[in-house]
Amino acid sequence: MKSNSLEYNFPDNFLWGSSSAAYQIEGANNEDGKGTSIWDVFSKESGHTYHGTNGDIAVDHYHRYEEDVALMKEMGLKSYRFSISWSRIYPEGRGKLNAKGVLFYDKLIDHLLAANIEPIVTIYHWDLPQALQDQYGGWESREIIEDFAAYASFLFRHYGDRVKYWITVNEQNVFVMQGWLFGLHPPGVKESARAFKVNHIVNLANARVIEEFRLSDCNGQIGPSFAYSPSYPNDSRPENNLANENYKAFFNDFWLDVYVWGRYPSFVLQRLNELGISFDEVEGDQQILEKGKPDFIGINYYQSSNVEFEWSKNEKSSMLSNLLKSTKKIENPFLEKTDWNWSIDPLGLTITLRQLESRYHLPILITENGLGAFDQLEEDKTVHDSYRMNYIREHLLAVKQAIDEGVTVIGYCSWSFTDLLSWLNGYKKRYGFVYIDRDDTNIRTLNRYKKDSFYWYQQVITTNGESLVNSTK
Ligand code: BG6
Repeated sequence: MKSNSLEYNFPDNFLWGSSSAAYQIEGANNEDGKGTSIWDVFSKESGHTYHGTNGDIAVDHYHRYEEDVALMKEMGLKSYRFSISWSRIYPEGRGKLNAKGVLFYDKLIDHLLAANIEPIVTIYHWDLPQALQDQYGGWESREIIEDFAAYASFLFRHYGDRVKYWITVNEQNVFVMQGWLFGLHPPGVKESARAFKVNHIVNLANARVIEEFRLSDCNGQIGPSFAYSPSYPNDSRPENNLANENYKAFFNDFWLDVYVWGRYPSFVLQRLNELGISFDEVEGDQQILEKGKPDFIGINYYQSSNVEFEWSKNEKSSMLSNLLKSTKKIENPFLEKTDWNWSIDPLGLTITLRQLESRYHLPILITENGLGAFDQLEEDKTVHDSYRMNYIREHLLAVKQAIDEGVTVIGYCSWSFTDLLSWLNGYKKRYGFVYIDRDDTNIRTLNRYKKDSFYWYQQVITTNGESLVNSTK
């Protein structure tokens, strides 16, 4: 690492931020006219989430947003990424607006602006109105494209005078694959043919929303947030390198090429064709996709992947290996792991940023990165989370390295500001700078307590990153 601290200044106006998502923090799941979302339903069905945890109350941000924004202000955040709950705005997904839901986000945005915090709004972070699921199968129907565009268009018209940064969809690659390939998210399906059809529809919806944004009066910028995992070949054997090419094409290019260029990578098309999987593409789709080029790429980065060629296939070979022509994921022995067994790889973030710059030449906004850990609230209400500070510090230095190497990064939003609900792992998996006094079974006081990392990140922001050099492990 370099020693001259002056070299550690991040760009002026760097969006030092933090993130959240509506279902994971708001609670108030059926208050003030909010409609039911697919997660409200899915989380209540037995066996889907950790110990049946759900977002009914979450961390009660809906009622405590003023206190939360005051904490953000105290920290000095420059930006805050949050999502709007579609079913709070349109309880049935379309048709009648819910004025109280609209007002909630008006107040949140106004409080943020008054605190000099740039709002970054995610239009869709997985909580689809259940009504659309019931009416036409949600993302499985092309009907959703215009409903999503209409919902987004309302947001642009109503909040666009105050919001400059918009995220279309959060981690399409995760919610589609988890929802239709692995059956772990709603609607809990495990059918690859359906997954790819849904994915194409989400691509069209994403592009339509960007088109809608261009037609609106908004002066801001828009892009998707993608869960990017750079992958490494396990060694220099050509077969493993080819396996890695397969993996990259399927897990990254398959989405990002469509976002940026409006076309699917040929290897994936070829492979799906061999497997008899189609998207049900119709005339005009190509034009819609091409019109959806984003202003920036939003990246959620947590971990890298290590892959190799599967030499001897057998009946235990995974569905993925079949899909990816005998490519399989394996452990990376060089990386440490989090409490939830996610590999920790800060350099992987530099690699991510360099790869994106080389392929797409677009500015990048890091919309999520953080450490899920078991935190301990001490008697005196402190939380000593040096492991989180180390994690974020290493990742921020990795971001700076990429900036120094020519990548345009406009901001970094940690995951997350307060502790919140992990979709499948409950409340014990904590990511925040602010501890929330609740656990999986007990709502307790829901009081907020600043962790050590709160003061540490405050210092990073105040010094525009310079303190990263001196904050030792
Ligand atoms: C991302 C999501 O996938 O990762 C977040 O956008 C999520 O909503 C975060 O919470 C961390 O994942 P997990 O499984 O640890 O909650």
